[in-house]
Amino acid sequence: MSSAKLFGDVVRDRRSLRNFLPTPVPESLIRAVTEDARHAPSNANIQPWNVHIVSGATRDALSEAMLSAEAGQRTTPDFPWGYDELTGVYRDRQTAQAAAYFQTLEIARDAHDLRQRAMLRNLEFFGAPHGALLFMPTLYDGVRVAADVGMYAQTFLLSLTAHGLSGVPQTMLGFYADTIRDLLGIHPSQKMLFGISFGYPDLDATTNRYRTEKASVDETVTFHW
Ligand SMILES: Cc1cc2nc3c(=O)[nH]c(=O)nc-3n(C[C@H](O)[C@H](O)[C@H](O)COP(=O)(O)O)c2cc1C
Repeated sequence: MSSAKLFGDVVRDRRSLRNFLPTPVPESLIRAVTEDARHAPSNANIQPWNVHIVSGATRDALSEAMLSAEAGQRTTPDFPWGYDELTGVYRDRQTAQAAAYFQTLEIARDAHDLRQRAMLRNLEFFGAPHGALLFMPTLYDGVRVAADVGMYAQTFLLSLTAHGLSGVPQTMLGFYADTIRDLLGIHPSQKMLFGISFGYPDLDATTNRYRTEKASVDETVTFHW
């Protein structure tokens, strides 16, 4: 098998799976993933990612603290978020993704309590034994730095897949940035972009039967030959 094929397989095998086995990932394997991810490119090579990986009792305490913050309506995102600004094709893709996901979970459109419960699984790391929390300094307007962190995150995710693991990026974890900073002792100048729950995927879980559609190359790339 050529290395190009291998790369294509890894890219296509990576999916956001939302159900994990409780089995912890050996520390050496987690370190191997971080060793891959640190080679990501960044503007002027500033490598602005500041990653906190939680496992075991810390992971459990953080999950509890986020659930409690959510119950007390103490959401503190560092960056604005909302579906309201989505229009046109972006709105179409977002609604298609949500519809397919909830259909897989057999949760009806008007079953608000069940939908809310499914959303709260985010704060339980979807059952994953580990979470990587991605912080960054807000240099300039933050956009360039966030792009760098995105580069890091995709390298991290692809490395997980290449090692037989799986991860799901989660903006929703960033809604509890203050709670996370307090619990982990992170300086307020470090802003949270998103997190990644990761571990061994439970491939038998209903949640993981769902696959997203991707736009064709022609819809997203213009070739100027
Ligand atoms: C930066 C980022 C943040 C995301 N935040 C969440 C989230 O909070 N909760 C969630 O369930 N999925 C989240 N996702 C996963 C997306 O829904 C998923 O990537 C998208 O539907 C495409 O599916 P795929 O990852 O399986 O290709 C996020 C993805 C990215 C890249």
